[in-house]
Amino acid sequence: MTIVPVALGARSYDVRIEAGLLARAGEHLAPLAKGRRFVIVTDENLLPHLATLQASLGVDSEAIVLPAGEGTKSWAQLESLTDRLLDLGVERSDHVIALGGGVIGDLVGFATSILKRGCHFVQVPTTLLAQVDSSVGGKTAINSRAGKNLVGAFHQPALVLIDPQVLDTLPPRELRAGYAEVVKYALIDDFAFFEWCEANAAALLADDPEARTHAIAHSVAAKARIVAEDERETTGKRALLNLGHTFGHALEAETGFSSKLLHGEGVAAGMALAFAYSARRGLCPGQDAERVAKHLRAIGLPDGLQAAGVTASGARLVEHMLHDKKMAAGTLPFLLARGIGQTFLDKTVDLTDVAEFLDAQPR
Ligand SMILES: NC(=O)c1ccc[n+]([C@@H]2O[C@H](COP(=O)([O-])OP(=O)(O)OC[C@H]3O[C@@H](n4cnc5c(N)ncnc54)[C@H](O)[C@@H]3O)[C@@H](O)[C@H]2O)c1
Ligand SMILES: [Zn+2]
Repeated sequence: MTIVPVALGARSYDVRIEAGLLARAGEHLAPLAKGRRFVIVTDENLLPHLATLQASLGVDSEAIVLPAGEGTKSWAQLESLTDRLLDLGVERSDHVIALGGGVIGDLVGFATSILKRGCHFVQVPTTLLAQVDSSVGGKTAINSRAGKNLVGAFHQPALVLIDPQVLDTLPPRELRAGYAEVVKYALIDDFAFFEWCEANAAALLADDPEARTHAIAHSVAAKARIVAEDERETTGKRALLNLGHTFGHALEAETGFSSKLLHGEGVAAGMALAFAYSARRGLCPGQDAERVAKHLRAIGLPDGLQAAGVTASGARLVEHMLHDKKMAAGTLPFLLARGIGQTFLDKTVDLTDVAEFLDAQPR
């Protein structure tokens, strides 16, 4: 078993990672039960994994099964979930279990942050994206009319249990999209991990359990390190995790946040664009930008506008960026790179230049 501690003082917790862990989750959850039943929240695509988890618990549990998909991160679902948790008599000292991808994790995290002014929750992430990113770090949110993730709270889980084996049932496209967030950690500040990714991505995507476990543990450790330094994204350190996300969100917005372009696919194209733009500005060697694009292409992720199927003008994409929640006082901070593993925050980017750069990209 690999244990990655997330060091946040009184809010510290463990991320435990091991193939087959779901079937043994009961051992890890028993100390939290305190003689009471568990409530598990999951989605309709996860019923086999729900059965495994419930069988492992050894105590009574109640399951709430929600519709799958981004639409579940809504006010309506938040209201109905909190009502059901209250009907089930959940107390502040109880631990609600979130079994699912980032949608279930974000919704349950937010619901438990407000339920009785805050009760505990445990993340049991089931997508690669949730295992390497959303289940760790305590950001929780729902979507609102004005945009994605605009209503939420910082609420850390009490424990994160990751079983790489549950990824066996994940559709390959979702797996690849989650892999984009793995590469992200390499591109931020870990060149050696990028080399590991180049050598092992194919094995990881083809279900090599060792490669999967290594990639997850390494990614979680990277996220834990950054979150421990800057839990609430105030110093700029945590903002590094948004590499590729400003460009990526613009592409997602342009494709209507639909299945045309999954979040991780937008991030992949966004990271390639961030590197290409850094190269255009003379900040980063062109061969580094090409090497990033080549790796993304090799595993079937989009490496730019064309592969993402986006034909919009640069001006229109910049307009999407301006709606991004990270806009502070009229400027748009961009994560750019001096090379692979050398990402930094640039607050002086000229948006007209970005639009021209995007216009010059192949469509
Ligand atoms: N809180 C954070 O820090 C953070 C970070 C990144 C992303 N997010 C959020 O995460 C969400 C995306 O998460 P996601 O990509 O996990 O999407 P998701 O939760 O919608 O899961 C993707 C699909 O896979 C299905 N699925 C999940 N696990 C499965 C499994 N093991 N086998 C078969 N099917 C399975 C789901 O039912 C769903 O249809 C977005 O809402 C995003 O905003 C949050
Ligand atoms: Zn992301």
